[in-house]
Amino acid sequence: SLTNLARLRSPILCVLGHVDTGKTKLLDKVRKTNVQEGEAGGITQQIGATFFPMTNLRKLTDQVSHSVKVDYKIPGLLVIDTPGHESFSNLRSRGTSICDICVLVVDIMHGLEPQTIESLQLLKRRRCPFLVALNKIDRCYDWQPNKDSPIQDTLAKQKSHTVREFESRWQGIKGEIASQGLNADLYYENKNPRKVVSVVPTSAITGEGVPDLLLLGIQLTQKMLVDRLMLSEALEATVLEVKVTEGFGTTLDIILVHGELHEGDTIVVCGMQGPIVTTIRTLLTPHPMKELRVKNEYVHHKSIEASMAVALPPVTSSLQAAMGVKIAASGLEGAVAGTSLLRLEKEDDIEELKSSVMED
Ligand code: GTP
Ligand code: MG
Ligand code: NA
Repeated sequence: SLTNLARLRSPILCVLGHVDTGKTKLLDKVRKTNVQEGEAGGITQQIGATFFPMTNLRKLTDQVSHSVKVDYKIPGLLVIDTPGHESFSNLRSRGTSICDICVLVVDIMHGLEPQTIESLQLLKRRRCPFLVALNKIDRCYDWQPNKDSPIQDTLAKQKSHTVREFESRWQGIKGEIASQGLNADLYYENKNPRKVVSVVPTSAITGEGVPDLLLLGIQLTQKMLVDRLMLSEALEATVLEVKVTEGFGTTLDIILVHGELHEGDTIVVCGMQGPIVTTIRTLLTPHPMKELRVKNEYVHHKSIEASMAVALPPVTSSLQAAMGVKIAASGLEGAVAGTSLLRLEKEDDIEELKSSVMED
């Protein structure tokens, strides 16, 4: 029913994979941005969050949704980009600890690489549902681009030697995944998506397979995670990054999973020198389809509630459940990323909250 629809928050989708498999480029393709080329050395060094409203996702998945029927029940997707470089395994771990589903990006030319395997093991351990994006298919010899198209249409247009190369590379990677103890199938051949990992061939450059990947992400969360996505009133928020933002001093980039935050709220977070108790001065979000870590014009909010999520078009509000939010407040220097953010309520004992944030 409609009341049920309105109660689902947007799923948090985390993108994982070895360095340079194309994680950021894939998101750039969806956002029509160019974050990747702005990164020092083309290497992601932080976690980034982008909100994709369902109105945009509907347009992007339009072509595939004719063949794969899907009801859109969620208000959008909150997508978290992570670095693939080996020195950032803490950020990959943080990303997967707050996400609902993952997309593991594999370079079809390289197959499984060290951080792919690390990520696979992390996903298995956490029992996190995930998809594999088999990226850079456009690098198969003599690839005929078919911009932003569904993958099956694209493959049908390739010459037979290109299809043979694609097939043989995919079979090799399927074998490598099997040797990690997991079964995988191309998603349109997968008869048992709950047990067998679905694989979506993609190109972040020509956009092929990207509509399929988005649609599948939506489908997977809606099928497997409805209970997890039911909104609750209780505040659930995680600190992603602690950093200086021009004009705002030290700020927290957080993911608001459930509940509501207001300017003036007293919050408690874990700090290196002990618990930090402070008051929210400013609440900011990036514009939809823009990334939290990129310097943008921010949207100011008096309050942000994770329950304003309504799945029905047109989505007029930028306030969608599961948000990437930036908090400006004094005294945030030394706050620790990856820990919970709590709010002091009237009935709360401040000392209890202080010790609880330090347990993270
Ligand atoms: P890290 O964040 O550093 O782990 O890398 P990443 O996985 O985000 O990869 P990134 O988006 O930085 O892409 C790495 C390089 O591969 C860039 O030069 C991209 O232009 C290129 N690339 C990414 N996706 C594709 C693709 O589908 N096809 C081709 N041909 N090149 C791609
Ligand atoms: Mg990247
Ligand atoms: Na890169």
